[in-house]
Amino acid sequence: MSTLITNIAELMTQDLEHRVLRDAAVVVEGERISWIGAAADAPPADEAVDAGGRAMLPGWVDSHSHLLFAGDRTAEFEARMAGESYAAGGIAVTMNATRATSDFDLTRLAMGRVAEAVSQGTTYLETKTGYGLDVEHEARSARIASTIADQVTYLGAHLVPAGQDPEEYTDLVCGPMLAAVRPYVQWADVFCEEGAFNAEQSRRVLMACREAGLGLRVHGNQLGEGPGVELAVELGAASVDHVNYLAAQDVKALASSWSGWDPAVGTGERGTVATCLPACDLSTRQPLASARELLDAGVQVALASNCNPGTSYTSSMAFCVTTAVLQMRLSVHEAVRAATYGGALALHKEAGRDTDGERAVGSIAVGHRADLHLLNAPSATHLAYRPGMPLTYAVWRAGVRER
Ligand code: NIG
Repeated sequence: MSTLITNIAELMTQDLEHRVLRDAAVVVEGERISWIGAAADAPPADEAVDAGGRAMLPGWVDSHSHLLFAGDRTAEFEARMAGESYAAGGIAVTMNATRATSDFDLTRLAMGRVAEAVSQGTTYLETKTGYGLDVEHEARSARIASTIADQVTYLGAHLVPAGQDPEEYTDLVCGPMLAAVRPYVQWADVFCEEGAFNAEQSRRVLMACREAGLGLRVHGNQLGEGPGVELAVELGAASVDHVNYLAAQDVKALASSWSGWDPAVGTGERGTVATCLPACDLSTRQPLASARELLDAGVQVALASNCNPGTSYTSSMAFCVTTAVLQMRLSVHEAVRAATYGGALALHKEAGRDTDGERAVGSIAVGHRADLHLLNAPSATHLAYRPGMPLTYAVWRAGVRER
């Protein structure tokens, strides 16, 4: 079955050439894109969809979310808006509520959040454990997550539960808990921050998880300058996320991690992606991450929702893109790239000249997964020009029309 989507006013491919086509068309065959080009040259297909002069982008790739949770933290949010600062302690509130929720309800809640994200144009997403925080509940979260998300990250090292010795808990994260989640996860993450895990504990967790064959990610430099970025780069993590407080040497380390990478062809040695989480920055009243400075320094940047009940209760990637343009001084093209190709790079799912396009998400090119986002607007600029407007018109995920 093939579908011709024609009359696309602007097709922002986010491919290696950064092409933006006008008056374009795309043909989808099964799960894949089989043709893109000028609408006037489009081949016939089994069915045709008139895009009505709208703009098309790749579906959003959300590379950082925490969707496995129950409970409510409205009171904490209200207190923060009244002047209190964010502290990681609220994670325990969610841990208690999550543990007390049945498998059925936890699955239903998480599925609902995925559906919300997809209805807003997200077509590929990562999610984390991290609200179970014991062997049984981390394993359960990982198992459920593996049924609802494209990639799963083990975040047993999110917070040391009250009353537990930090070193003993770190041992648990590196030992029995890791073994229990291992069948369900591709990545491991650690909240490397004062009040969570220190540099030595974070290193221990990351090394054990790497030894177990997991890729690495780090929550770093969210609440103050610290060792997170340096550790992530040193251990070859795929991403370091938050990056609100960066010293000059952090930016340098991130930039040099990309020295073996050729962005023009998308090949070479991947470095550590700096993942900025603007919805979280606003919701915690932290300074917005310096995405402009990072891009100018040659760092690969991703934008992600960080959807979670404590610091960023939204899965709207469009909101992140809008904020990145209006407040973080990214161009529309740069912001959309960070929310598509950048997320794919952070999850090792980007297309390169020599990589298998079939595995690729986050860009529109022949052979790639047909993850497409049609806006109810003639250009992607409207994402910033009309902030807050519901601009998602249609979504295809792996060739299936979801909306
Ligand atoms: O990415 N920073 C750590 N983890 C989450 C927040 C978790 C919570 O407060 O529930 C984040 O912001």
